[in-house]
Amino acid sequence: MTDQPTYTGPDRVFSGIQPTGNLHLGNYLGALKKFTDLQEAGWDGLYCVVDLHAITMPQDPALLADQTRQIAAAMMACGLDPDTSVIFAQSSVQAHTELAWIFNCVARMGWLEKMTQFKDKGGDNSERVSVGLFDYPVLQAADILAYKATHVPVGEDQKQHLELSRNIAARFNQQFDAPGFFPEPEPLIKGPGARIMSLKDGTKKMSKSDPAENSRINLIDDADTIARKIKKAKTDTLGDMPVTMEDMAARPEVENLVGIYAALSSQTSAQVLNQYGGKGFGTFKPALADLAVAHLSPITEQMRHLLDDPAEIDLALRKGAEKADAIASPIMAEVRRTVGFWQV
Ligand code: TYM
Repeated sequence: MTDQPTYTGPDRVFSGIQPTGNLHLGNYLGALKKFTDLQEAGWDGLYCVVDLHAITMPQDPALLADQTRQIAAAMMACGLDPDTSVIFAQSSVQAHTELAWIFNCVARMGWLEKMTQFKDKGGDNSERVSVGLFDYPVLQAADILAYKATHVPVGEDQKQHLELSRNIAARFNQQFDAPGFFPEPEPLIKGPGARIMSLKDGTKKMSKSDPAENSRINLIDDADTIARKIKKAKTDTLGDMPVTMEDMAARPEVENLVGIYAALSSQTSAQVLNQYGGKGFGTFKPALADLAVAHLSPITEQMRHLLDDPAEIDLALRKGAEKADAIASPIMAEVRRTVGFWQV
């Protein structure tokens, strides 16, 4: 499926975040920070609060709209400008669900059965989870391709879903004899923030659903809480900070803290070791806490400020939905024609 003519449309970034639970440092370094870096570099981008994805697991209808506002507030507080980038809620643009249905008829069961995230979440309980959870990555492909997005900034955990989006794009182009119609979207994953691990277990990713509150730093944590969580973060009994990258390789918790420091200070982990290698954790951890607080507290403050006036967030989401719809509508008209639907 790779010998297709390449897509020649404009470069466009798309990414999404689920409105479930509190955002944490992993979401920030794996996704939000990349969004603002791309905006600053001049990329056209759509950033979507994926509420349709959220309901693949049970959500409280009384809270969902507010959770959506919170994610939009976080995007704006991190530096996304609603006049420059498109910030919107997935459910307010019809193209996502329509294209997801068409892609349901393009994607193969076997492709979805390989998705590790479904296996992790559905586990042995696949009788009890929703069909939507199984179909989740098809909707994700529709999110991206409804805008013919070419680049998708995400954390490492989304790699397999992005591979599926590429396969769906290629298969659609082939099946409907429409070479180069959809781009095969490229994941933007690299960098030290791509996989932030739990502060309590360096082999598990930092996650909203981890019951241990000390395992993650939330974007809404205050300075004292951040400092306390970093102080309590698990290290190991091997003594001081490693001096070389090789020494660090077998020390996952330390590697994670060094990675966080590197991502927050826009350095490589090797550069961080140059500065802190051989020093005690009593020196490194407070420096990391200071760095995290300096970086996150303006964001937290701005988020609180925005959430005090939800009208501003709602206005941004409304304008965003209009702009998103204006991009997706002509693409969907082309899709309908390509599939062969009767049209008015
Ligand atoms: P979600 O809401 O789980 O996570 C949002 C983003 O945060 C990244 N992330 C992490 N990055 C580094 N370290 C971590 N510990 C960590 N935890 C989460 C995720 O990789 C993601 O980039 N399926 C997506 C949402 C989605 C989407 C899309 C993304 C729906 N449609 C289209 C891109 C394009 C998700 O559940 O993200």
